Amino acid sequence: MEPTAALQRPRSATCPADSATGGPASAASPDTKGADALSQVPLRVTNPKRIPARRYYDAEFYRLESERLWPKVWQMACRLEEIPEIGDWIEYQILDKSVLVIRTKTGIKAFHNACRHRGVKLGEGVGHCTAQGLVCPFHGWRWNMDGENIFVFGRAEFDEAELDPTDLALPPCRVETWGGCAFINLDNDAPPLLECLGEGVARMDARHVDRLKVDWWSSTILPVNWKLAMEAFMEGYHVMATHPHLHAVTTPEARRYGADSPLVSALPPTESARKYVDMTLVHLATLSEGMGGMIDGWELEVAETLRDMDLPEDVGAGAMAFYTRLRAEITRQGRAQNRPVPDLIKAAAEHPFSAVEYFFPNYFLLPMFSSMASYRARPLGPESCLFEIWALAIYPEDEQRPAPTAPAPLAHDDPSYPKIPKQDYSNLPRQQLGLHAGGFEFMRLSPNIEGMISNYQRLIDGFLAELPAPVLARGAARASSGFDAPIADLGF
Ligand code: FES
Ligand SMILES: [Fe+2]
Repeated sequence: MEPTAALQRPRSATCPADSATGGPASAASPDTKGADALSQVPLRVTNPKRIPARRYYDAEFYRLESERLWPKVWQMACRLEEIPEIGDWIEYQILDKSVLVIRTKTGIKAFHNACRHRGVKLGEGVGHCTAQGLVCPFHGWRWNMDGENIFVFGRAEFDEAELDPTDLALPPCRVETWGGCAFINLDNDAPPLLECLGEGVARMDARHVDRLKVDWWSSTILPVNWKLAMEAFMEGYHVMATHPHLHAVTTPEARRYGADSPLVSALPPTESARKYVDMTLVHLATLSEGMGGMIDGWELEVAETLRDMDLPEDVGAGAMAFYTRLRAEITRQGRAQNRPVPDLIKAAAEHPFSAVEYFFPNYFLLPMFSSMASYRARPLGPESCLFEIWALAIYPEDEQRPAPTAPAPLAHDDPSYPKIPKQDYSNLPRQQLGLHAGGFEFMRLSPNIEGMISNYQRLIDGFLAELPAPVLARGAARASSGFDAPIADLGF
């Protein structure tokens, strides 16, 4: 269904009994059950353009997310570079659940993180499983990296019935890898990862996302609901007011939100291709510096070498010629430096991407040329979340990079953050507080450029209604998209 049709008759929010495949469901069909379940979700989205404010702080809503959303979704648990050697492990924590992700001789595995004796967490932070195995610090029981128990201290003191090897083995947790990361899912019956991540996978694969390595990693505890943090990056509409210095160096042709922006109305269209290139070079430099690595320094140097390239007179043709040449040069010069850069011209032609690519529920990438930034949000409470950023770059293949280690979270207003994330963070606590204001009942969304917010929120309702896993997987694949997306039919 076209997004506009979704708006005319918003099935997903108000007519959930209509199945994805066609007409109204019969009384006995699962769709009717789904509609009933959806109608029971507290604070649910009934108008796809209006998001109830209490969803961002209500304790009961948060409890339902903790019980019905987070245990069912694929979550980016770690970058694979964090566990480069066989035996390396890392702890991933989500709410009250802890999982160990470990690199073994037979691939990446994950286990629920509790000693089978009396429940002590076997690992905290990061570590390495030696020949001794994973050792419980309480009474010394041990497990190998495949999760098999290899030692029980004072074995004779226990009944044999309590020492069954199958029962003593660490319960495995679902884990799959994509894009240079391990993803876990606490649900043993969850559909496969790639069924849930959507079409952004192909777009990012075309850009060699799995070859990227960490340049830097930052972490902050934001005093906001996790959804609010995710939604701050779902549209480019905020750039004019939140990042005015970036907006000011964006060519009028590249701005898409109309002439009523004070800056746009003050500026005439770029009058020549040369001016377009000059301004674009300033824009790229501002973006690179402001994001602290989304455009790597060497890519910027390549762009600068094209300042005086021959250009057609027409601005549109000049812009096309500049970007085509820039992609070609980054590809050529990057490969000459032994960097595994994809063919950026081919990637742009065959897999056009958005400036922000989302993967439901809590991971997104910001691709540009060969480098990217990536973000992850995790709830810590109804109005608190852990928010992380990785700047990722394509390094020469023979360059040894140290395994990245988790940084201590900084305050959200720490002066060390690059300018652009700092500006994003500055709005969020104000927004969280504003949601509590008397008379503020719902956010009002643009159906075209803020549709992703609606898509995410309505999909969350599907999880809270405990719709069938294949329905939710299909919804997750549809909600995962590039930013500025319109309201979409999620299929329920
Ligand atoms: S709790 Fe782990 S060995 Fe006792
Ligand atoms: Fe922003």
